[in-house]
Amino acid sequence: MSSAPLPRVRPRRLRETPAMRRLVSETRIHPAELVLPIFVREGVSAPVPIASMPGVVQHSLESLPEAVADAAAAGIGGVMLFGVPEQRDARGSGATDPDGILNVATRVAVEASAGRLLVQTDLCLDEFTDHGHCGVLDDRGRVDNDATLVRYAAMGLEQARAGSELLGLSGMMDGQVAAVREALDDQDFTDVAILAYSAKYASAYYGPFRDAVESTLEGDRRSYQLDPGNRREGLREAMIDIEEGADIVMVKPAGSYLDVLADVAAASEVPVWAYQVSGEYAMIEAAAAHGWIDRKRAVIESVRGIRRAGADVVLTYWATELAGWIRNGDLA
Ligand code: PBG
Repeated sequence: MSSAPLPRVRPRRLRETPAMRRLVSETRIHPAELVLPIFVREGVSAPVPIASMPGVVQHSLESLPEAVADAAAAGIGGVMLFGVPEQRDARGSGATDPDGILNVATRVAVEASAGRLLVQTDLCLDEFTDHGHCGVLDDRGRVDNDATLVRYAAMGLEQARAGSELLGLSGMMDGQVAAVREALDDQDFTDVAILAYSAKYASAYYGPFRDAVESTLEGDRRSYQLDPGNRREGLREAMIDIEEGADIVMVKPAGSYLDVLADVAAASEVPVWAYQVSGEYAMIEAAAAHGWIDRKRAVIESVRGIRRAGADVVLTYWATELAGWIRNGDLA
């Protein structure tokens, strides 16, 4: 026998059996806490695969109802719609056209959902502009903050008229929450909620998304999205958005910004969501396709980490599939 004292404190007791581990788990994922981003492309009849996001497609208006129905059947909380228009111009006219792809898709999704899940829309001009920026440009080619607010207000109204219940403001213009809130309230859309992408970082992880929406971005977004090194500024942006009337705030991307997420979760009086973006999806899919990581375990771990850091809800391209695993009891 060794004379070393036996440990009296043994954390391993709580890890011994599956039943004990299940009981002491601090972080669970419920399907209702997941939101599925969906791309809808104008002018196609069948879904189009997205090369850099294996398993994700650009839906057609015809295939959209089934995607919404599957999501609802899986029990997830909502879908976030993105439009991929056929025509783009400098002002992003398609965004404010009632017959523009995103507004039409919203009507289709609202009908398919029939109240089973929340239909949300991305409120940003980048999918609709020919230069690919999130706003309109001034005569020197810079993104014009205040002229863009006018466009966002008009876009928000069209989305509300189409039936969107939650507007996801992802453009990172100053004053965007207040501008859209005022426009909605003026037109009696007082019940339409605002999800502010408050702390949205200028990230390399949006790469596959730009394929998904076929964006041809000229330059970069560093004059409006946050510098990846800035933690305090992420919290500040969230506080400003709450002050302006945001109903929910979001941190994006998720995985590389868990500290910002934890800060915002600790300080916020409104729900805090996180967006596990296209590049985060693509990395796990690519590594799993090579057999380098266990796909299912990595997906679950990545989403659990985001929840553990403080996200109430996670937007993830795996939402429907993950909800299926949860229902099977695969997550314990
Ligand atoms: C802007 C927007 C972007 C994403 C969501 N909304 C792209 C960007 O800011 O460049 C990225 C989402 C993802 O990468 O999954 N409309």
